[in-house]
Amino acid sequence: MHFTVEAQTIAKRYLTEGSIAIDATCGNGFDTLFLAGQVGRPGIVYGVDIQERAIETSQKRLHEADLLRQCRLVVGSHSNLTTIVEPAHAGRISVVMFNLGYLPLGDKSIVTKPEITITALEQAVELVRPGGLVSILAYPGHPGGLEEVNCIAEWAGGCQLGEKCFHVEKFQDPNNANSPILWTLTKAMFS
Ligand SMILES: C[S@@+](CC[C@H](N)C(=O)[O-])C[C@H]1O[C@@H](n2cnc3c(N)ncnc32)[C@H](O)[C@@H]1O
Repeated sequence: MHFTVEAQTIAKRYLTEGSIAIDATCGNGFDTLFLAGQVGRPGIVYGVDIQERAIETSQKRLHEADLLRQCRLVVGSHSNLTTIVEPAHAGRISVVMFNLGYLPLGDKSIVTKPEITITALEQAVELVRPGGLVSILAYPGHPGGLEEVNCIAEWAGGCQLGEKCFHVEKFQDPNNANSPILWTLTKAMFS
């Protein structure tokens, strides 16, 4: 299974022209590009990355594909998602995508951190609309990656209970201990 493709295939079911979406880790811009194509001109995609270089790469990619107009790219941390997203869009986000770890071909020391990731996820589940999706792709194979995976697993387990009414699914390759792990959290229609 190619997990980035799988994450996009699942996300596609939650998007339509005019949707609002968030790429919480822009990186090289592939997921932002995908989201911008799905929501079209009437839609909005927030793209966030801590690295200026990632936002520049994403901007160039979107411009070349003529998909930049519907994007709002921000250099910053996804732990500030609630301040980055316009208040009028809170609770109306159809999809939030997280593709964690480090920037491929970039500085491997700039990597997502468990505590910050959980802070961002807490905000994402508030921002997403009823029936919307939060997808999280995490990698146990790099230093600190397994710790992040374990934190997310515990946090995601709690989302199925109590006030946070999410349907949680987990995908991984059972034959590979270092397999990426994809979680999908779908918010209940009436929560
Ligand atoms: C695996 S890459 C994302 C790949 C991207 N989705 C794509 O399609 O190319 C992970 C990204 O997370 C970014 N990142 C790390 N910490 C972050 C934070 N606190 N807030 C936002 N982005 C962060 C890194 O800079 C890196 O670009």
